[in-house]
Amino acid sequence: MEGIICTTPPGLEDISSMEVKELTGERPKERPFGLRGRIMLKEGGIDRAWKLIRESRSLHRVSLLLSQGSVSRGREGLSEIRELSAVASDFLSPHDTFAIRARRIGKHEYTSLDIGREAGEEIKKKSGAKVNLDNPSVAIGVEVIGEKCLVTIELTGDLSLHRRGYRVYDHPSSLKPSIAHCMLRILDPEEESRIVDPMCGGGTIPIEASLLSMNLRIWGMEKYEKHIRGAILNSYAAGVRDKIKFVVWDATKLDEFREEFDYSAVNPPYGIRIARKKIIPKLYEDFFYALEKVGLKRLCLITTERNLVRNLCSGFGLKIGEERWIMNGNLKVCLFLVNFT
Ligand SMILES: C[S@@+](CC[C@H](N)C(=O)[O-])C[C@H]1O[C@@H](n2cnc3c(N)ncnc32)[C@H](O)[C@@H]1O
Repeated sequence: MEGIICTTPPGLEDISSMEVKELTGERPKERPFGLRGRIMLKEGGIDRAWKLIRESRSLHRVSLLLSQGSVSRGREGLSEIRELSAVASDFLSPHDTFAIRARRIGKHEYTSLDIGREAGEEIKKKSGAKVNLDNPSVAIGVEVIGEKCLVTIELTGDLSLHRRGYRVYDHPSSLKPSIAHCMLRILDPEEESRIVDPMCGGGTIPIEASLLSMNLRIWGMEKYEKHIRGAILNSYAAGVRDKIKFVVWDATKLDEFREEFDYSAVNPPYGIRIARKKIIPKLYEDFFYALEKVGLKRLCLITTERNLVRNLCSGFGLKIGEERWIMNGNLKVCLFLVNFT
């Protein structure tokens, strides 16, 4: 086996890479083959891969790399893909079902459907396993990137690891838990410190904070009671109800709350899926005004409103420690780390 390929939230490859190094001891290569949202470990092995699946909180998918090689862009590339894919049959018995998940980036004289058909026929012939596209027992990835072909076993199947079991309440504009986890790593709070998500919706950020292995004092606040009730349900499902204080509160009045806070991680409304666009500038301004008065050290914030946050930081004399574009599903959002001291 030739290595392990993992998918991460695009734009956060370096943060996932840190986590994978902690779990395996090896620092993965970020964006291998120029692929955004991927990291790759040189050393493969099923035990390593299962450890990542069980313990990682930032990864989306984990695959074992079975073979890689060069393929032509012309029709002759299909027989080369066939040859490279054959190795997957070693992992299948005639009692198994499988599906090819074919992907293609670049210009080729064949489509991803052609790739799937060629690889599928070869593997079926060699292993005797049956094709089941909807519910296969083994998902095999065949990916052609320019003139490179990668053949993998997708150990996480068709389900991404960001789908946590605790999401019993689905907030209409929830954040991917993998991104929440990465935000907390970027925020890097000290142990025993106080951390707040003042617009916590279904509670993703406070729940991920409580699942980090540190002794944080965590608050989740939200203007609407129905979301706080949902966040409480999610925290019960995650087994961390007793680690988070959930409060119905207005984030623009954070300074009137009885506590001060050291850190904040927040995903405020963007005026796209929830809230009207025109209320956003005032909401953010009032929120920053309140944040300034609660003793904060650092804030990690995700929003589509890049210029608004830049202007507010400059208006309030706050230093932006880090700024990067990331993808939350199909939405491009900007992640800020803001220093208050
Ligand atoms: C983008 S959603 C957060 C989603 C959350 N991160 C999750 O994963 O479920 C923003 C939340 O901010 C809340 N909100 C809007 N204005 C607020 C305010 N002034 N105070 C507190 N919460 C507010 C909204 O009700 C919404 O639930």
